[in-house]
This record gives sequence, C-alpha cells and structure tokens, in this order.
Amino acid sequence: MSKKEFSRTLVTSALPYTNGPIHIGHLAGAYLPADMYVRYLRLNQQDVVYVCGSDEFGVAIVMQAMEQKIRPQDVIDRYHPMIKQSFEAFGMSFDHYGRTSNKLHTQTSQAFFQCLADKNEFVLRREEQLFDPVAKVFLADRFVSGTCPKCSYEHAFGDQCEKCGATLSPTEIVNPRSTLTDAVPELRATTHWYLPLGKWQSRLEEYVANHPEWKPNVLGQIGSWLSDGLRDRAITRDVQWGVTVPEEAAKAAGVDVKGKVIYVWFDAPIGYISSTREWAIKKGEPNLWKLYWQNDTTRLIHFIGKDNIVFHTLMFPAMLMAHEGYIIPDQVPANEFLNIEGSKLSTSRGWAVWLHEYLEDFPPDLLRYVLATILPESKDSDFNWHEFQTRVNSELADILGNFVNRSLTFAEREFDNTVPSLSELSESDQHTLQELKTLPQKIGEAYTQFRFREAVRLTMNLARLGNKYFNDQVPWVTRKSNRSQCANTIHISLQICAALSIVMDPVLPFSAHKLREMLRLDGVISSMPEPDSSHSLVWNDAGACPLTAGHKLGEKSILFQKITDDQIQKQMGKLKATNSKLPSSSIEIKPEIQYDDFAKMDLRTGIIRTAEPVPKSKKLLKLQVDIGDETRQILAGVAEHFQTEDIIGQSVVIVANLAPRKMMGLESQGMVLMAEDKEGRLSLVSADTAPGSIVS
Ligand code: 2FM
Ligand code: ZN
Repeated sequence: MSKKEFSRTLVTSALPYTNGPIHIGHLAGAYLPADMYVRYLRLNQQDVVYVCGSDEFGVAIVMQAMEQKIRPQDVIDRYHPMIKQSFEAFGMSFDHYGRTSNKLHTQTSQAFFQCLADKNEFVLRREEQLFDPVAKVFLADRFVSGTCPKCSYEHAFGDQCEKCGATLSPTEIVNPRSTLTDAVPELRATTHWYLPLGKWQSRLEEYVANHPEWKPNVLGQIGSWLSDGLRDRAITRDVQWGVTVPEEAAKAAGVDVKGKVIYVWFDAPIGYISSTREWAIKKGEPNLWKLYWQNDTTRLIHFIGKDNIVFHTLMFPAMLMAHEGYIIPDQVPANEFLNIEGSKLSTSRGWAVWLHEYLEDFPPDLLRYVLATILPESKDSDFNWHEFQTRVNSELADILGNFVNRSLTFAEREFDNTVPSLSELSESDQHTLQELKTLPQKIGEAYTQFRFREAVRLTMNLARLGNKYFNDQVPWVTRKSNRSQCANTIHISLQICAALSIVMDPVLPFSAHKLREMLRLDGVISSMPEPDSSHSLVWNDAGACPLTAGHKLGEKSILFQKITDDQIQKQMGKLKATNSKLPSSSIEIKPEIQYDDFAKMDLRTGIIRTAEPVPKSKKLLKLQVDIGDETRQILAGVAEHFQTEDIIGQSVVIVANLAPRKMMGLESQGMVLMAEDKEGRLSLVSADTAPGSIVS
C-alpha cells in the first residue's frame, strides 16, 4: 500500500524492562525520538496514538529479585512507578503507559498464543534441559553458569560467554552449576512450543524487500539473519515468572502447564496491543483499539534500540502474520547506542546518567535538546557533560533564549508590550519573512523522514535567523532614527518567536509552552494526547505570522538558565563516584610465570585490513589482519567498542601461535592484543613497524 493511504498512526516505544530506573541511553534510543515524532504529528492534527508500558516479565527481573532476596513482584512494583514518573517528568507524551503484569495483558497474550496453537502455527518439541534438583526448577539460560566450551572462561552464562562473546546454550556449558542454589544440574526432558520462523522466511523477505526506506542499520541486521536462514524459536520457558501458557493449549498438547510460561519476547510485543486496548477502555470505547491494529489504513511504527531489531522486524511480524487480521510494522526506526564520556554505558558499573537523578539538578528540556542533537541515529554516539554545558549555554541560552529575550524586551520598552504594526517592508524584512515561511516545512520534512538531529538543527536555525536579522536591523539605533523600521524589526522578530514556540515544541515542549505564555499566544494545538478541539493553530501556521498587530504580550522571564562549571563538576563527580565504588577488574597481578612460559608466545605486528560484524553476535568483529607473509582471520570481541571503519588500517599486535578456535561457526586464527582501562575502554596495542615484525 502506498503510504499516502494511511489515515492514522500507531506509534510504540520499546517496553522497558522493569528491573531498574531509566537512564539517558534509554531516552536517546526509543523514547525521545518517538515523543518528538508524535508531538510533531499531533501539531499537524494527525490521528496518532502513542503507547508504551513496562515489560515486567523475563529472567532479568527474576535475577534481580534473587539478588535482592525479594519477589519479582516487588521488583516491578518498585520500578514501574519510578519509570512511569521519569517518563512523565521528561514529557513522554504517551496516550497510554501500561504494564505487562496487568490482567488484560495476560488475557491478550494468552488469546494470541491460543489462536496460533489452534491454527497449528507452533511445533512442540520434547528435549532435555538442565534441571536444578535442589530448587526443583528447570534452569533458563542465565540460571546456568560454568566454563565456556570455547575459551575456558569459568564464569560463562548459559546463553553467552561474556569473555569471548560466544553464543551458547545451557547444555554446552562445561561443569555447569545452578546460579539459584549452586547445585549441579541434571538433564531432564521437558516440552516446549516453538514458532517455526523458517516457515515465514519468504513472506518476511518479501516484507523487508518492500521497505527499502528502512534505515541501513536496521536493514543490515535483518539481512544477516535472513541470509543465515531463520530457525525455529522456542517461545515457552520453564520458569515461575511470566504469562502462563493457556490451559487449553497445554491440555491439547498433553503438557503440564505448571511453571510453563510464554517467553518474554513473545508476550512483550503483544504488550503494545494490550496497552492500546487499555487506552481504548480508558477512552470509553473498548473496541477502538481494533482500528489501530486491525485496519490496514493504520501505519504502525516501532521506535526501538538496535538490540531489539530482530524481534520487531522478523519475530513480531511473523507472529502477526501467523495470527492474521493484524497490520504489521511499517517503520522501525531503530537507534544505535549512546555512550557516556567516551565509554560504553553500563548500569552494573554505574556508568550511567539516571533520569530521576538528572532531574534533581536540571530541567528536562535541556537534556531533551542536547540528546536530540546527538541521537545515535546511524551509529553509536557520545554524551558528555561538557558538551551538555556548551550546547545549553551557547545554543539554548545564547541563541534561542537571548533572541526571545531581546525581542520581548524591545516590545516592552518601545511598544508598550504589544506587537507593533508592520509598514513598508525593507528587502531584509521580506527576505526574513520568506525564510520564516519555508522553515517549518523543512523541519517537518526532517521529522517525517525520522531525521531528528536534522530537525533540531533546523529548528535552531530559525533562532539563528532571528538573531542575525535582529543584529542586522540594529533596532537600538532605529528606535530613534526610524521608528517604523524599528516596529517592523520587532514585529517580525516576535513572529519568529511565535513560530519558534510551535516548531520547538517537539523537542522542547516545556519551554515552548512557557514561550507561548510569554507571548500570550493562545490557540496553538497541544502536542499532548487528546488536544483541545477549540485550538486551531497547527504546525504550518508557524510560518504564517500568527501574531496580530496590537496583540498584548505577556510577562517575560528567562527561558534557559546557563549552566556553571561547578554544576558540571558535580555531575562528573557523581558519575566517577558511582563508577569507582564498583570493584575494578583485572587489577590483581596474575601468578608469576617463568621466562619459558612467556617465550612460548609468538607475538607479531600486523595491520587490520578489513573489519566486519559477525552476524548475530553483538560483540564479535571479523578482522583480516595482515602479518606480512600471510593474512589471518581473527575474531575479536570488540564490536561494542569500535566502529569497523575506525579500526581498518590500524596497526596491532597479535598472538600468532594461539591454537585456532571456532566462534559463531567461524575460525579465529590468533588473538589481537588490547589494553582495557578501569572504565572498560579498550585500545588496540600497536607497534609502528612493518607487519610481521616479531614482538619480544
Ligand atoms: O530490551 C528491552 O528493554 C525489552 N524490554 C524491549 C521489549 S520491546 C517490546 F517488544 F515490548
Ligand atoms: Zn568464552
């Protein structure tokens, strides 16, 4: 269907796991861009519903509960309100924010599951899985720990080795132990439901091929999954925490339903549907959700982080296709990750900026703006406190705030706090009015195409235009020498302020509101849900000079306070204090070795000629390293630390006589040496010599 035929939009942001508060990485990934987008649509009077909610099942929550010796219910009851409140404080304008522990979600997920079971869309498999004889439960991936079969690291988990990055299954772990009781697990037979994704391969290929407009990072990830061939995915688990498999399906399969739950990645996206249902009930039209999910004139858009791409572009669409009657996602504008001060954000190391803590010191709009200028739209990006200060002080305060302030100050002092009238326009007046007319549309195009950084840059350009115009017109001179020219300058400047108060709304909603109050500009349609239908000024009116001559202005105040060096020092201190409280790794010197032990290693210099991601691995990069006489393929667990383009051509030192080993089905012929600092930052160890030189 051509996009022109869509009559409404359903926007979702990834449901956050309820096992901790929200940090700026979350905000920059799936929430801020979505909120800006829906606010833009609402300002255009488009029919849009924006839903989200807490993702309250899954092993992460159970593990958190175990660590704190509380129930999973206690974990979610602690974090759900906290997350909801942070989102509200940051102006996330959800039409509804639900939670997957709600009854309606259980019913919706079970009905969805049952429908697929009735249609024979699942396959059942009986298989041996690890069972904890003490706790008397089957052990999901993260509940098994032991030695990695690939690199012998002794603390690998049942799903992945954090040292070498290998993807594992619990039964592969050598010397496995239960993380629940430390017992040695036994193998026991159990039955699970699988979604045969392979059956949907060609439909999914066709679906993806119909979306060449998707972002390259999204298409790239999907491409490698599709080219590897889609496999069956288990969609039930033997754990105590989750949506129980429906009795009817279990009975038909002859399986005891006790402790058998739906896999969190099956029920979580259904959370989008249940949240929309709750919204419809809240509105008093319980069937309204169907218009948004079961009518192909609705455009479905999922805002997510890059770790969720496969689930939203392959698995959830396959579920929706299998169910029938549902629309499938039309856009999935996934963002990459946000680093902090050059290091990977890590909640376990305390290397994060938590939203509730940020709000103790600064207003929400400042962070919204700064994050919007650095959104990781096409590659990982970096947040740092000094840049935060610079952008707030020299962009928000010095450009936007200053322009508004000087325009209003002049109106107050020279024109009795009213909008002066226009008379004969100079060339510069005309040119400025023309620019003013076209900018909202240009900004709008950037929003429509999910280019949020650009939208924000263009928004700030409007304030730049205003400042330049104001300076060029020298109203502090014309106030005496040419009163009508001065009136024109202030009139046009105030119209630019009015336009700003509309087009800055998606990114700076609180300040936009404040500015409208200062201008006493009523009638602008709200970018929040359920706008007042009596308001009629919309996005495109921003360029059409909405203030009339003689209009009485309101009281002015400072829009953005500057940030001092002390305030930034405090934030840096907070970040470093939390980080240093954590045990630092690899500080202890390993046991002594003899020279002969060292001499066994053959260390050579090399040059990285190519680097590419390893499909389905978050951590591994496949490198071709030129070591003089030959080129080695080496798999290195550095994908989260380096962009491929940044390391190609770099000189490295490798262990050239390390026995080859296989990872993710690929052979690694050596090891690249890295230095890791206390903050977990990796650097390549390099030597400025010809490739193949011996390091000793
Ligand atoms: O990665 C996460 O935080 C998941 N809780 C996202 C779920 S998105 C959706 F499917 F609900
Ligand atoms: Zn390993």
